[in-house]
Amino acid sequence: MNYNKKTVKDIDVAGKKVLLRCDFNVPQDKATGAITDDKRIVAALPTIRYLLEQKAAVIACSHLGKPVATFDSYVKKQAEKGKDPASITEEEWKKSLAKLSLAPVAKRLSELLGQDVIMAADVVGPDATAKAAALQPGQIMLLENTRFEKGETKNDPELAKKMASMAEVYVSDAFGTVHRAHASTAGVAAFLPAYAGFLVEKEISVMGKALSDPARPFVAILGGAKVSDKIGVINNLLEKADTIIVGGGMAYTFKMAQGHTIGKSLLEADRVEYAKEMMEKAAAKGVKLLLPVDSICAAEFSKDAAPVEAGEDIPDDLMGMDIGPKTVELYCEAVKGAGTIVWNGPMGVFEFPAFANGTWKMAEAVANSGAVTIIGGGDSASAVEKSGQADKITHISTGGGASLEFLEGLELPGVACLLDK
Ligand code: 3PG
Repeated sequence: MNYNKKTVKDIDVAGKKVLLRCDFNVPQDKATGAITDDKRIVAALPTIRYLLEQKAAVIACSHLGKPVATFDSYVKKQAEKGKDPASITEEEWKKSLAKLSLAPVAKRLSELLGQDVIMAADVVGPDATAKAAALQPGQIMLLENTRFEKGETKNDPELAKKMASMAEVYVSDAFGTVHRAHASTAGVAAFLPAYAGFLVEKEISVMGKALSDPARPFVAILGGAKVSDKIGVINNLLEKADTIIVGGGMAYTFKMAQGHTIGKSLLEADRVEYAKEMMEKAAAKGVKLLLPVDSICAAEFSKDAAPVEAGEDIPDDLMGMDIGPKTVELYCEAVKGAGTIVWNGPMGVFEFPAFANGTWKMAEAVANSGAVTIIGGGDSASAVEKSGQADKITHISTGGGASLEFLEGLELPGVACLLDK
């Protein structure tokens, strides 16, 4: 995969209409709809400011959540959840869409930019096209949620063409969504010259370098609940890393493969063979694959459960909830002197304070390692932020699924569609 893409700096955008795909898929309070974390909006500001300073007219767009674009599909989905189809009204469907309007994002973006953000009532309908046509250099507008159009997730060329027809240039700064081949993330590039924004450029260059030419030793830390979510990442990193540290729920499938008892810990029985193969492959390649040597356990999955220490073998009535103190020592020692560290997935159930120690200690060790440090998005990013160590990290990705697919070495449609340098 070529990571060397043309950026907004490679084109003169003055006086041009620029369709800018952002990832404004921000978390919202369920009851009030208030944006609870505006990191992704803030991350898009450098590109937006640059384009506006260059006197481009910016037509920003994004998805938000997973709206159901047609009433028929909405009825089907609700029926699958056990609702009586006859009781479902169009009004209810429209309400579900209204909850996923990008209007609150336009408001927050406007506050951050200190200028008006013109909100369109649709994506490619009469309001959006009229507002786009009237948009002046230095002005910015935001289209409605791209997933309100049923062609978006199907990468419908007709929709992509309509979106593209409003602009002269396409810029993608939506790193969190580059793993999706949708009309607004990839399809439009068939109709417009396509460039990377600063966020996409930074994400792909930092992570691309870590994978293709890492400062060594290269240590990968993988955690999270499931081995099955990380298979592609483990496969790819076994070819590249010097050390792979495994924590979180997924570690117990590996411990089972080693022949240890794991009590009531998370187990993916159909992945035990795979875990064995990975351990053999690591040994054959000379890659150190580190697994927990002790755990903090609980009798039940609850934040109030009493923490109990266990060694390599976990008794029948307990489940592993965090790495234990000896493992913390072993893992912290393993990151010392690293040249590059990539971390994806927490070491334990860090949402519960009694089982967060392993994750906090790893965050501290990674932050103070002196290595080039990259945190994959999602849970690992929020763990590092909660630990108060975020400002010492080289790069915290804004992509959850996208950074995972990047680490798997997969081709990302939203990057592949951009012009090569
Ligand atoms: C994300 O939050 O990971 C991206 O915005 C992609 O969202 P999606 O999983 O709904 O495609």
